[in-house]
Amino acid sequence: MALSLTVNGEKRTVEVDGDTPLLWVIRDELGLKGTKFGCGAGLCGACTVHLDGQPMRSCSTPVEMASGKSVTTIEGLSPGGNLHPLQKAWVEHGVPQCGYCQSGQIMTAANLLEHNPTANRDDIIAALSGNLCRCGTYSKIIAAVESVASGDSVDREGA
Ligand code: FES
Ligand code: FES
Repeated sequence: MALSLTVNGEKRTVEVDGDTPLLWVIRDELGLKGTKFGCGAGLCGACTVHLDGQPMRSCSTPVEMASGKSVTTIEGLSPGGNLHPLQKAWVEHGVPQCGYCQSGQIMTAANLLEHNPTANRDDIIAALSGNLCRCGTYSKIIAAVESVASGDSVDREGA
């Protein structure tokens, strides 16, 4: 079936079964490889995207649920190559190790800061508690998000 959805601000039409996981449409039909497949069961958060502004696990979201809606992937956080403040903080703090979980972590953190721009450490830990990292980068992730929320990131300083 033909389904239309808006991905990173662009209207896209795909020809797939409605029960195809949104993740495979994003990666295989649209070629946006920043969103990762981890567990495939809604447990790890590696596949997190925003669906109409809410974090959503794309591995366990049928694409028909996204029909007519707006999807933002990690690529959508840096339109025109301008990094999101969180992406700058990630670089500044040297967060990623293997990198596999990181786009999901950033998408979850971006949604938190959109709703709570001055989130404190407890807010950050709670919001990210469902995003798992096999490499154990949690302390750097929290420091990076805290730096943006507290205004200490390079972006907020205008550097
Ligand atoms: S791959 Fe979707 S939650 Fe793990
Ligand atoms: S950086 Fe390797 S899984 Fe998180």
